[in-house]
Amino acid sequence: MRALIEAVRRDHRDIRDVVDALCRVAAGLSEAPNPRDTERLRSMLHYLQVYLARYHHPKEHHLFAALRQVEPRFEPLLREYEAQHGHGAALLRELDADLARYEGRTSGSRDALQRSARRYAAFHRTHLRHEENALRSLTRREIEALDRLAASQPRRYVRPPMQRADIEAGFAALAQNIAAPIR
Ligand SMILES: [Fe+2]
Ligand SMILES: [Fe+2]
Repeated sequence: MRALIEAVRRDHRDIRDVVDALCRVAAGLSEAPNPRDTERLRSMLHYLQVYLARYHHPKEHHLFAALRQVEPRFEPLLREYEAQHGHGAALLRELDADLARYEGRTSGSRDALQRSARRYAAFHRTHLRHEENALRSLTRREIEALDRLAASQPRRYVRPPMQRADIEAGFAALAQNIAAPIR
């Protein structure tokens, strides 16, 4: 189970880098859109929408299932995190619509896009922090129980379905590319 926990943490580092870059690029937008910024914002949205839904949340789905089995104290927290996944997806759809209005040069759209970016970043940073805190709070006894569970069901908890190493590596490279300072 430690490998799955480490994979979730690695994802969080990449996601945090992309969210930080989203904030930086959104804050620096000029009134009139330019393709360099809008293409960067598009790739950030692509990363956040696709990677979270298809790769990160499925890992958490397996991890949360395991946590539920070994320790009931996590139940209310996990329910909250799962609800936040839905809320985050809705905020990303709003961000997407605001970006389309900015690209279409709708009046006032730059400010609306900047507000949506700030709202999403604040929301998602809090979500990441809470999940990290929950993982950090695991006791040695709980980690050992998770390891025993993983040993008994390796197909579910050691290498869950949907984890394709080549695709994961591609998304990690995309995250680093997105987060790299603009020259
Ligand atoms: Fe999550
Ligand atoms: Fe997460």
